[in-house]
Amino acid sequence: MELFDVYLLYDITPVKGKDVYIFDKEDNNYLDMYGGHAVISIGHSHPAYVNGIANQVKKLGFYSNSIKNPLQKELADKLEEVSGVKDYQLFLCNSGAEANENALKVASFQTGKDRVIYFEKAFHGRTSGVVAVTDNKKVQAAYNQHHKTTKLAFEDSRALEEELKKGDVAAVIFEVIQGVGGLDEAASEFYKKTAELSKKYGALLIADEVQSGYGRTGDFFAFQKHGIRPDLISIAKGMGNGFPIGGVLIDKNIEAKPGMLGTTFGGNHLACAAGIAVLDVIQKKNLMQNAKELFDFVKAEAANIPEIKNVKGRGLMIGLEFDFEIAGLRKELLYKHQIFTGASANKNLLRILPPLTIQKQHFKAYFKALKIALK
Ligand SMILES: Cc1ncc(COP(=O)(O)O)c(C=O)c1O
Repeated sequence: MELFDVYLLYDITPVKGKDVYIFDKEDNNYLDMYGGHAVISIGHSHPAYVNGIANQVKKLGFYSNSIKNPLQKELADKLEEVSGVKDYQLFLCNSGAEANENALKVASFQTGKDRVIYFEKAFHGRTSGVVAVTDNKKVQAAYNQHHKTTKLAFEDSRALEEELKKGDVAAVIFEVIQGVGGLDEAASEFYKKTAELSKKYGALLIADEVQSGYGRTGDFFAFQKHGIRPDLISIAKGMGNGFPIGGVLIDKNIEAKPGMLGTTFGGNHLACAAGIAVLDVIQKKNLMQNAKELFDFVKAEAANIPEIKNVKGRGLMIGLEFDFEIAGLRKELLYKHQIFTGASANKNLLRILPPLTIQKQHFKAYFKALKIALK
């Protein structure tokens, strides 16, 4: 049977990973400045992660959500401790799209309203509700276009108030730093105003931290820098270091009703074991601090490269903006220098999303290769 051919593939077959490197079948190593799209948080094949999953699968790999699974509560408690956010409840699922889909559903259940506001260049996933609030017509089928949604310009608080005033908005969903869109981040004032207006008009605020969460920006959640408290926070990518897991943090004042949400695989024993190992390592190895410190180093290094016009993002969620399209540069870095990087909707922007365990020496190697590639 052929595979349903929807991905543009690089001609590389990784068979093994270790920390910030992946290896192909000839044992060539590739420096992973892309983290498998911001997924690898504590490094490929981290021993705590491997042992956590291996020990758990020897005991019990899965049972349905109809039984007690203390690992879910352990994960929720650890998440509260490491992230520093209090007074939320955790619902576990399997991916970023599912996390946002559930967040939107909770907002609609809670408010009894059905319209959602989103922003230009947003990416929230590919399931029906969230693809309808993703700013890319190419990934929406006719079937997805029946949701009541309104797209607004990022940072347009006046338009936001006009829409909220209409009284039918269940939620405002946003990425604090837009990932796929190209690393745009608004000023704190905008996030604060959005939170204030949502509250005033009875809409819930959903922070999509699927990509920016889990320490990637140097804070556990990117919104924490802006002094707001979202009603719902969606999480996924870095949460399982590659093991599929997602979740929604739901304000404690939103009451759970039996059957309101549900999933077969979400919060299974293996996913929880992976998630607990990730949080342990982020905490013990001070990976948030590492992300913060390295960003200063990256900015200083980038300042020495005249072709880089702008450094966007924060921590280890970085966009290097050039004044030319970077598709060729990315290929050169991959095939000549064995370095994985990412792209975005902004064709001039090279996206850097490495494992949070990355060190200065790896960035030095990266910038050395980049300078040669730019010649
Ligand atoms: C901000 C954001 N939200 C949601 C998603 C969707 O996550 P998933 O691919 O796990 O469904 C992504 C994926 O890139 C993302 O970057």
